[in-house]
Amino acid sequence: MTAVEPEAATRGLVEIHDVHKSYGGVEVLRGIDLTIAPGEVVAILGPSGSGKSTLLRTINHLESVDRGSVTVDGQLIGYEQRGDRLHELREREILKRRTQIGIVFQSFNLFPHLTALENVAEAPIATERLNKADARDLARGLLGLVGLADKAAHYPRQLSGGQQQRVAIARALALKPKVLLFDEPTSALDPELVGEVLDVIRDLAQLGTTLVIVTHEIGFAREVADRVVFVDQGAVVEQGPPSQVLVAPRHRRTKEFLAKVLG
Ligand SMILES: Nc1ncnc2c1ncn2[C@@H]1O[C@H](COP(=O)(O)OP(=O)(O)OP(=O)(O)O)[C@@H](O)[C@H]1O
Ligand SMILES: [Mg+2]
Repeated sequence: MTAVEPEAATRGLVEIHDVHKSYGGVEVLRGIDLTIAPGEVVAILGPSGSGKSTLLRTINHLESVDRGSVTVDGQLIGYEQRGDRLHELREREILKRRTQIGIVFQSFNLFPHLTALENVAEAPIATERLNKADARDLARGLLGLVGLADKAAHYPRQLSGGQQQRVAIARALALKPKVLLFDEPTSALDPELVGEVLDVIRDLAQLGTTLVIVTHEIGFAREVADRVVFVDQGAVVEQGPPSQVLVAPRHRRTKEFLAKVLG
């Protein structure tokens, strides 16, 4: 494998400061403050429509913010500071900075016309980080990591949902992100396929990449997360270790939410 970047001293410190976001006059993020340590695993929980996906998407600047800032290892992601104002960067620079942050969506979003191997090798080649041979070697290794070494030549339509999601995780890892974001990675899967995807994420949690996981899998959050953040109506209502937030929530809305999802 070709080394593409020297290892930074800190990797994957995420600082979200006073982030606000509105759509058509409706404020869906109302001042989010969150600091996520390098290597920390944070589970984000909250009702439908509370702003979880929007928050995740502001971290890698798939959404712009109206106010506040997001930095990774001290670097602004979608913006640069000039004087006391933030200016949105050009697309090319946004894409470059975004490579530090991988994202895995509920709906996999694989390229249908590419094999599993090609899906994983695509970004390192497109960003000219690796030549084709090295990118394919890397992709083979990553498919092995997610337990799909034998599916490299399969197209997405030839794979189960769980396998497609594991390819998507391997693809997100191909640019060696400092931070990996998951937006309900198992909620599109049949119940019997959920476990294989959670197993892969559990392994990643051991590797030291910062993970931010929006999930409704309470048991998984309890087991894997260092911290649970409960979001409601665009604000952080409560956060803390899973043993506190999930077992002895302090806030009424957290209690109500947990009662609902735990049924
Ligand atoms: N691009 C958009 N344009 C307009 N409104 C949007 C847009 N994206 C999200 N919203 C609105 O913002 C609010 C928060 O949406 P978001 O997708 O972040 O919620 P969520 O917590 O991820 O919900 P879910 O659990 O259902 O995925 C919702 O009311 C949604 O309708
Ligand atoms: Mg969502």
